[in-house]
Amino acid sequence: MTASLLSQLSQIVGQAFKTVGLDTSYGMVVPSQRRELGQFQCNGALAAAKQAKRNPREIATEVLTELEKTGLFSELTLAGPGFINIRLMDDFLVGHISDLAEDSYFGCRSRHMPMKVILDYGGPNVAKAMHVGHLRATIIGESLRRLREFMGDTAISDVHFGDWGLPMGLLIREIERRQPDLPYFDAGFSGPYPDNSPVTVEELQEIYPAASARSKDDPAFLESARKATFELQKGRAGYLALWQHMRDVSIAETRTDFDLLGAHFTEWKGEADTNDHIPQMMDRLAKEGYSEVSEGAVVINVAEESDKKEMPPLILEKSDGAVMYGTTDLATIEMRREEHDPNAILYIVDARQSLHFEQVFRAARKCNSIGSDCRLEHIGFGTVNGKDGKPLKTRDGGVVRLRSLIEDAIGEARKVIAETGMSERFDTAELDDISTKVGIAAIKYADLSNQRMSNYVFDLERFTKFEGRTGPYQMYAAVRIKSMLRKAAEQNLTEGRLLATHDAERNLMLAIAALPEAITAAAEKNAPNILCDHVYNLSQEFNSFYHECPVLGEANLDIRASRLCLCGITLRQMEKVLYILGIDVPDRM
Ligand code: ARG
Repeated sequence: MTASLLSQLSQIVGQAFKTVGLDTSYGMVVPSQRRELGQFQCNGALAAAKQAKRNPREIATEVLTELEKTGLFSELTLAGPGFINIRLMDDFLVGHISDLAEDSYFGCRSRHMPMKVILDYGGPNVAKAMHVGHLRATIIGESLRRLREFMGDTAISDVHFGDWGLPMGLLIREIERRQPDLPYFDAGFSGPYPDNSPVTVEELQEIYPAASARSKDDPAFLESARKATFELQKGRAGYLALWQHMRDVSIAETRTDFDLLGAHFTEWKGEADTNDHIPQMMDRLAKEGYSEVSEGAVVINVAEESDKKEMPPLILEKSDGAVMYGTTDLATIEMRREEHDPNAILYIVDARQSLHFEQVFRAARKCNSIGSDCRLEHIGFGTVNGKDGKPLKTRDGGVVRLRSLIEDAIGEARKVIAETGMSERFDTAELDDISTKVGIAAIKYADLSNQRMSNYVFDLERFTKFEGRTGPYQMYAAVRIKSMLRKAAEQNLTEGRLLATHDAERNLMLAIAALPEAITAAAEKNAPNILCDHVYNLSQEFNSFYHECPVLGEANLDIRASRLCLCGITLRQMEKVLYILGIDVPDRM
């Protein structure tokens, strides 16, 4: 495994600092802001001078003398008050890139200690179609899962279905109201219950809002729904059988959305899976004095002295005996510990749920539900807005369904593709495939390239452009390299030993070498936008290279073979990073 270029350079420069009697940490090297001055720079002499009470230029000069002896640098200059500008010998750079070419992870795994991470995202709810809020959870969560896997971590993804709690009671009562003769409501019925669901998912999507509205106008209905929820949680057979049907049809529906978005879940668990664990958890929390009864409810006080704002207690059980969203989340943490003993649990959920997670995490720590060596983190995100700057709504003010967003994006992609004249070159099936890939890439890149916590405006016209910072542009850049390499193969041209003969080649190599830092930063900050920037830089540098350096048309055979090799590495890395971002690259476009 190859260490990253930056870490190798930092080590070499650090060694030079050490030789002149200063700490190695001053040798930290960063990419140069101004390429014309150098490829990299080290500003450590300034801090070192402060510490040693010496002149920074003098220190930098001594370090430069040491660095010159290594023979690894083609240019070393001293600038300003003590900055060191560095340019690498071509052999060094080319040697590094050739090493990376042998490593399917481009040097990204060399320093990472693999860990076990559970990612909780997607989070659809029974009977409710996934909406725009679940879009970001799914896109960001899936990308963080792929990132973890790429780094060598064990990544376990759990969809954590919203399938317990009051909405279930509301559904049961509303279905009972409409079809009272179904056996699920007959307490004396001894089974077996029907194999087929009495309701379709489309019906459920109409039944739930109706039930929810009714519960607001009719206190008796609400009360009966509470009771049904409680009885369901206590295991009433008819309710469980009906619930199972509702869950099954809802899961089948969300699978279609997840498949379209390319989200992979290792676990399809939900809130309800905690039901058997909850009684023992409640017992323990009471016995060990963590929970208390307050106004008829069982709660955990999670306020801390240093709190600046009010921190309400986490409610575990309401006076009606039914358990809550926080109860199932706390129990889920305990069950995940027992089953997986993870190093981290990451929740990719709307930022508006931050109070909930703060309460749950505090409770988990306080009650020793999980060890202090397991990180719990809520990875929030901003909202998707309409052009009016407000959270996206349908024309009549309703919730926008995820499916319709995806369909709109694919439709827009189809339109843009037709305008390029591509339609004439492909049959319908391939055109469908390309439009789907372009539409999905458009949504994903637009979502992921924003800072996670910012809101963004959903603007398909902008997202589907084949230029600038868009998914389709990144995808197209990769397709172009693919088709060039295909042409090379048809002409029996092969890749050869890598050479550096032009600055555009060197700059492209530097872009390739920057992946490990991008990967580390993206994982540390849970920020896929850093990878969007990386892949954008890569395609920009590739474009400059392609513009200035002929590949197939190059007369010098060694240079041509080297450039083919460089194109190959670029493509492999681009596809890897696009894969992490959830973007599939078609073979041709
Ligand atoms: N079902 C929830 C919702 O739609 C999201 C679940 C997030 N995960 C969790 N462990 N609470 O808002």
